[in-house]
Amino acid sequence: MESIGHHVPDRPIKRTDTHIFNSQIFKYKTPMSPTENKFLAFLNDGFKVDGPWEQNEGRQQTSLFASGFDRVITFTDDHFSLLDVGCALGQAAAFFSDRYPNASISATDVSDVAIKRCLEQYGDRVNFFVGGFGHIPESYDVIYCSNVLEHFHDFDEKTRQLAASCKRLCIMVPYDERSRDGKELIPDPTSIEHQVTFFKDSYDFLVEEGLAKTVQTTIISCPGAWGWSRRQKITHAIDNVFRKLTGRPVAHEYLQIIYDVQTTLQHTSASSGD
Ligand SMILES: C[S@@+](CC[C@H](N)C(=O)[O-])C[C@H]1O[C@@H](n2cnc3c(N)ncnc32)[C@H](O)[C@@H]1O
Repeated sequence: MESIGHHVPDRPIKRTDTHIFNSQIFKYKTPMSPTENKFLAFLNDGFKVDGPWEQNEGRQQTSLFASGFDRVITFTDDHFSLLDVGCALGQAAAFFSDRYPNASISATDVSDVAIKRCLEQYGDRVNFFVGGFGHIPESYDVIYCSNVLEHFHDFDEKTRQLAASCKRLCIMVPYDERSRDGKELIPDPTSIEHQVTFFKDSYDFLVEEGLAKTVQTTIISCPGAWGWSRRQKITHAIDNVFRKLTGRPVAHEYLQIIYDVQTTLQHTSASSGD
């Protein structure tokens, strides 16, 4: 895959570079609204050592999503640049750096607490910086954004910003999430909880608006993160028979959908290889 932008380092990233990144992680940060600051405080609290993110197995979840994605999409030429947007504690970016040792892997999150912890653990192989949807400084061959956009009422505008910054945009989000904690999902700019769900045609607008050439979708299960194990499938199938017989609503498996978007930013045959 041909690399674009000047973010690709001309030498391998080494652990000793961490001090450089520490002084640069806020390089792209811009002033935030009171609501954004409220979200940031919440996220930063979640990412502190042994905080809610780790207690709820967020690290494992990020790894499982990346593995699930990898079962569907393989980048054939490993000389490419990839940015993970909404990287949390960095496990997907680390996974990609192991999987594609010749690629230039970067990762960003709005949470400076998360990015500092990412740098401590994986700063020798991934270029981490504090950023967000509106603060992507350069163009990348691939942007990977897993389980972030369902948190935003304006996911469409945020996706446009991502599509304008890469040749290939890989989005992973919950598929057809019917309810959350028993409540219907409702777009809400004052919340950072899941508020949008996604279907096969949710990103067709990118083609209609000329921001993408193609959008391919794949629906997957990520057992352990977002999906049922074989055992759970069997027990739910049996339970659903009784539910139907007694007129109760049946349980639906949690699934993920992957959108593989070839944007119109710049296209070469090498950038579409999987
Ligand atoms: C549910 S987590 C998903 C983490 C990871 N991508 C995964 O697949 O497990 C959502 C992530 O999006 C980040 N986030 C929230 N708002 C953001 C923004 N405006 N820009 C970038 N990241 C953001 C959060 O800090 C959090 O790390």
